[in-house]
Amino acid sequence: MSRLIIVSNRVAPISEGGPAAGGLAVGVYDALKETGGMWFGWSGDVLTSGQPQIKVEERGPVTFATIALMRRDYDQYYRGFSNATLWPAFHYRADLLQYDRHDFEGYCRVNAWLAQQLVPLLREDDVIWVHDYHLIPFAQALRAAGVKNRIGFFLHIPFPASQVLLAVPPHRELVEALCSFDLLGFQTAPDLRAFCDYIVNEANGTVDASAQGPLTIHAFGRTLRAAAYPIGVYPDEIAELAKAGERGKPVRTMKATLHSRKLIMSVDRLDYSKGLVERFRAFERLLEHAAAQRNKVSFLQIAPPTRADMHAYQDIRLQLEGESGRINGRFAELDWTPILYIHKQYERSVLAALFRTAHVGYVTPLRDGMNLVAKEYVSAQDPENPGVLVLSRFAGAAQELDGALIVNPVDIDGMAEALARALGMPLAERQARHRDMMVQLRENNVSVWRDNFMRDLQGVAGAKSTRSGKARAVSGKKAARETQAG
Ligand code: F6P
Repeated sequence: MSRLIIVSNRVAPISEGGPAAGGLAVGVYDALKETGGMWFGWSGDVLTSGQPQIKVEERGPVTFATIALMRRDYDQYYRGFSNATLWPAFHYRADLLQYDRHDFEGYCRVNAWLAQQLVPLLREDDVIWVHDYHLIPFAQALRAAGVKNRIGFFLHIPFPASQVLLAVPPHRELVEALCSFDLLGFQTAPDLRAFCDYIVNEANGTVDASAQGPLTIHAFGRTLRAAAYPIGVYPDEIAELAKAGERGKPVRTMKATLHSRKLIMSVDRLDYSKGLVERFRAFERLLEHAAAQRNKVSFLQIAPPTRADMHAYQDIRLQLEGESGRINGRFAELDWTPILYIHKQYERSVLAALFRTAHVGYVTPLRDGMNLVAKEYVSAQDPENPGVLVLSRFAGAAQELDGALIVNPVDIDGMAEALARALGMPLAERQARHRDMMVQLRENNVSVWRDNFMRDLQGVAGAKSTRSGKARAVSGKKAARETQAG
């Protein structure tokens, strides 16, 4: 059997039940620990001098191969093009998009350099699965280095509508680079549609749905396949984790704080795409309009820090701190703080146990590729007495979880009404909605996601091009020289 090589920017320091490090790290690790294989990516370290060296560590069936980034590479590739250009654009925040041509060059250079680091670790029959927007030019760089293996790509975040993507100056180079993969995976059908729309209307390519399985794309002189593969969780494992934590200290402390009040709960990285300010205002609107809810419900927002060295993230933090202070000042009583806002990370097992305690899971991103928190919240519920999920229509998870109360995350009144409805929902309706969603989550768990993608990737013929291998990515040697210069 071929060995699976996972490549992603972040290779989280993973221990079972350890800190939840974002959807990608959680989902990919769950998928990889069953099949075994190698996970290659950034170590999370940034060097100001010296030369990055690959560190190889075995943990059970998974080999982790990680490497540090030089400061300039981190600034241009990670903070710059990935997170100041691609992240806002792909989350439909063209207003926050910043673009610097040098950052794009750094992004391509680091992709080529990382590809060059991976090449000596590869075997002929390895199957390579690259993840997320940091690594769009990775296949192009591997092909330029002569790698013929099958290479797939999965985008964890949304793929934007063409008119939004056009705001990214090198949009054409990016889509051309995507076409160097053999198989592209998107979270949802709308993301796949947006990609196909670009191919047909902006790249003069074609999309063919006649064969079984993924669509066939012809563009930029290449033929590749593309489909939607919604990432899942292991719902029964999460349910067990949640149940096991029911009598643990965090849950006891939370219950003591609540007395017998109901709990609304959210967990998100502190990111402007998560709709946190609108969410806080909708909770405020609930307290404003439904006086009976005052002192009867608390809202716990856990928002661990993320990308804290970027202005847009410092701004959203300030805004949220202002909002929580203002709303608490307006409604708090001596014995009740309406919003418990916590700016730190908790272990996955603690979050699962807290989810089980929460009457409402409040997941309202402005845009999100999937949002595994929504799936984890549902999984963690007690089937006899489940809570209700209030979910943004712009989270990928809303395509599957139709037992949730679906809301528009900018409609403050609509969200306040959904919260009131969730808090008052009769048991039989809660049970029925939970049952339906669990069926969906079990049918499409994380193994199904991995197996479907791998089946389709194994099914494509390796590196096929109607062109003479001309790659736009900077060559491996050039990348190495420039990267080591830091
Ligand atoms: O899922 C989207 C994602 O950007 C992942 O690629 C990433 O690991 C996670 O969010 C956390 O972000 P970061 O790696 O920038 O801390």
